[in-house]
Amino acid sequence: MSDVFLNGKFIAADKAKVSVLDRGFVFGDGVYEVIPVYDGHCFKLKSHLKRLQNSLDESRIVNPYSEKHWETVLKKLISLHLDGDQVLYLQVTRGVAVRDHVFPENTAPTVFVMSNMMQAVSEEYKANGISAITLKDSRWQKCNIKSISLLPNCLLKQKAKDSGAEEALLISDGFLTEGSTSNAYAVLDGVIYTAPKSGKILPGITRDVVISLALKAGIPLVEEPVAEFKLTDADELWTSSSTKEVLPVTRLNGEKVGTGLPGPVWQKIDELYQHAKSVERNDG
Ligand SMILES: Cc1ncc(COP(=O)(O)O)c(C=O)c1O
Repeated sequence: MSDVFLNGKFIAADKAKVSVLDRGFVFGDGVYEVIPVYDGHCFKLKSHLKRLQNSLDESRIVNPYSEKHWETVLKKLISLHLDGDQVLYLQVTRGVAVRDHVFPENTAPTVFVMSNMMQAVSEEYKANGISAITLKDSRWQKCNIKSISLLPNCLLKQKAKDSGAEEALLISDGFLTEGSTSNAYAVLDGVIYTAPKSGKILPGITRDVVISLALKAGIPLVEEPVAEFKLTDADELWTSSSTKEVLPVTRLNGEKVGTGLPGPVWQKIDELYQHAKSVERNDG
């Protein structure tokens, strides 16, 4: 059984135990990060640790570790799993306490990190795109926190799956926010649109990479929300996330998006993204 990190110790996953009174278990009171590891190096580590800090601050949980200490823990865990590309999952909860909505005093957060083998992005998705459906964004107003309370996201993703789609694109007050497990983009007349950072979306690390790659390549991109009614006119739709990268959405609610095949703007961004993945080896 592979090793995980729990509260300061590297131990076999089947020996790692958390109390039933942990507030993560009882309330979903905690935050998490998912960090891709290519060839032994975290991709955009500093950005992930910064977002973790923001999630903890917004949740009023004290970060148990310094950035340096997080780096040491993650590097050690990576070194214990030398089998190809990995995905680190790290979670910090408010800790173990008698059940009470009010925060406990003097309770140490619970820290858990595991590494799993990365599943390669499906060639089929890259060649033909994925299908998505639109659903009402039924989540809360603080989607900028990477909260472990993911029941709304699970319900939305399952609804997409039940209808034969890979992702749900979420609509709030008539505008596209993001996907149930991804950020979202629309290309209209050569301009890439993606919803601006706010409590309505998770500030995706992949989204930051996409924005910087597009702007550097001179591809127009604006952080503006797209109205739901414009989605049917979009030449291209995409999603992005750390594990699935940037994926073209070629069918929306059963209808073709653009030509029905991955578009040229996506192809360019994917090429730039693959390059960025292969050259960034400083864990920055
Ligand atoms: C709701 C939601 N939005 C966006 C993202 C993309 O974030 P990142 O690019 O940091 O993986 C995710 C990833 O899991 C997500 O769950």
